[in-house]
Amino acid sequence: MVKPFDEVLTSVADVEGWMSPDQARRLYDAARTAAPGQRIVEIGSFRGRSMIVLASAAEPGVELVAIDPHAGNDRGPQEIEGFVAEAQDDHAVFNRNLAAAGVADRVRHVRSFSDAALVDVPGSVQVLYVDGAHRFAPARADIRDWGNRVEPGGTMLIHDSFSSVGVTLAILRELMWSSQWRYVGRARSMTEYRRDLPAGLGAKVTNALRQLAQLPWFVKNLGIKVLMSAKLGGLLSKVTGRPAEWPY
Ligand SMILES: C[S@@+](CC[C@H](N)C(=O)[O-])C[C@H]1O[C@@H](n2cnc3c(N)ncnc32)[C@H](O)[C@@H]1O
Repeated sequence: MVKPFDEVLTSVADVEGWMSPDQARRLYDAARTAAPGQRIVEIGSFRGRSMIVLASAAEPGVELVAIDPHAGNDRGPQEIEGFVAEAQDDHAVFNRNLAAAGVADRVRHVRSFSDAALVDVPGSVQVLYVDGAHRFAPARADIRDWGNRVEPGGTMLIHDSFSSVGVTLAILRELMWSSQWRYVGRARSMTEYRRDLPAGLGAKVTNALRQLAQLPWFVKNLGIKVLMSAKLGGLLSKVTGRPAEWPY
């Protein structure tokens, strides 16, 4: 059964993760566009926060695939390697959280790296959510290789866009000057792209400019990250009058 958005948001309130409520709304609305028989794929599921939103919004008959090796790499901000024990917990908690939300039966978990999962999960995708490894090379490969699986008119959402360096460079390389992906907008760092860019140079240039317009926000995010990494978050909140927050 499809749950109303507010109920879904409440159901993930205690599930750890970095997805904000406005980003949950984007995921929810994207999942609603998938018809029975179509497929939603998430790369990077962690403890299930975003997958619960996708699975709770999707119509019965939509296939849901969560790809996450739970191997201890690229686990979260500044957790790139060496988190194997924590990832074992993530795996157990992921299963528990999906069961508690009543969506465990709907989701196929592929416990592989996203490049290997291309073989495990054949066929096309209606909605793709990219939130796995945030370094340039794997993020670029996800956008390119999994993005190629998205049907015309389908949607790709990418977390940590214009906030993580690797993801942003991957976007600039693969999507800024694309002939197929139209930039729709973003909820904080979650960008939304539609595979329906009209043909022609004008559409391409407009699309590139709309993405380049996000770069000042990217620079601001980098500044916040540098200050917070240097333990200067207190100074930042004094200047802005708000608690310093890692940008997502
Ligand atoms: C930022 S977390 C995902 C958060 C999740 N989308 C949410 O909102 O709750 C990143 C996840 O990506 C996974 N990951 C890392 N490298 C990956 C890869 N190459 N393919 C798929 N998942 C990967 C990690 O195990 C981790 O659980």
